[in-house]
Amino acid sequence: MHNVYKYTTMYAIAPAPSLQGRHFLQASDFSSAEIRAVLSLAGYLKSRRSGEQLTMLRGKTLGMLFEKPSLRTRVSFEVGMTQLGGQVMFASGAEFMVGSRETPEDAARVLSRYVDAIVVRTHAHEPLERFAHAATVPTINGLSAEAHPCQALADLLTIQERFGALAGLTIAYIGDAGNNVAKSLAEAAVLCGVTVHFGAPASHSAKESFLAHLQRLGKPHGATARAFRNPTRAVRGVDVVYTDVWTSMGEEALKERNAASLIPYAITQELLAYAQPHSIFMHCLPAHRGEEVSAAVIDGSQSVVFDQAENRMHAQKALLVALLTDLRGIPV
Ligand code: CP
Ligand code: NVA
Repeated sequence: MHNVYKYTTMYAIAPAPSLQGRHFLQASDFSSAEIRAVLSLAGYLKSRRSGEQLTMLRGKTLGMLFEKPSLRTRVSFEVGMTQLGGQVMFASGAEFMVGSRETPEDAARVLSRYVDAIVVRTHAHEPLERFAHAATVPTINGLSAEAHPCQALADLLTIQERFGALAGLTIAYIGDAGNNVAKSLAEAAVLCGVTVHFGAPASHSAKESFLAHLQRLGKPHGATARAFRNPTRAVRGVDVVYTDVWTSMGEEALKERNAASLIPYAITQELLAYAQPHSIFMHCLPAHRGEEVSAAVIDGSQSVVFDQAENRMHAQKALLVALLTDLRGIPV
């Protein structure tokens, strides 16, 4: 046991290229090795929740600017930062709307003078890119219409904990395959050697160009991405079945249309039975029982949704330590 622990801690840090000062706007901003290093560091921090962590980000302040509501992302970053000895400044709604009171560039330049890193939750992705381009401190996407990369880190950490390794597994993402969670999960997955099946109707399918992008990302790692119209075929034999809400924040006007198209893609016990007997069910939350997932599935024995939610904090702590330090002083 002692040897295993030693190996794990060495592996957590030793091969990691430095991420200090980098932005994290989408999962593919990081290489395969960088994602795997953050996951290893997350596992290390999770296994060693002790007083030593209180000095890791002492004196650092994380700014959090949210245009949309949040439970998990906000609280997991705030508690994570506190556990690492740092502080958080949170602004939401009218106090902070990227690009409405001033340009994203001006907001980024100003905030970079006050804080050491910034988490931004926006509607559109483009103002976030402009913000990050002008920021002189790391900018982290806390969810945009295009991407939710912090969720993807927690998802892969959860899958790795359950299966011991990532490479060679297959995830079926069923539902709105064009949304932020689907895209970030798929990018991170193929970079870690996990094949992705999308199960979605034409109205909610992954774009051909995005599938080609995933295939390029996944090829060196032995992973691919495929789109299925038939949810049963998408789920057959997979290790992980994943879904998210049918209507994302900001798209409320499309709620009825989305529900009409996606009803056959709801995750029920009947559909889940096509996956491997050892398969797990995942959902980023918040969830709607009786819509995208049945209560029997999300509250059933294959569901790991609360481990996922917990792992948001561990994965983001690792991300913050990687972006804000040179990892010196971490006992490895
Ligand atoms: N999964 C997730 O990002 O949840 P919140 O919207 O509550 O932050
Ligand atoms: N796709 C969802 C994820 C919520 C965490 C949304 O954007 O609302």
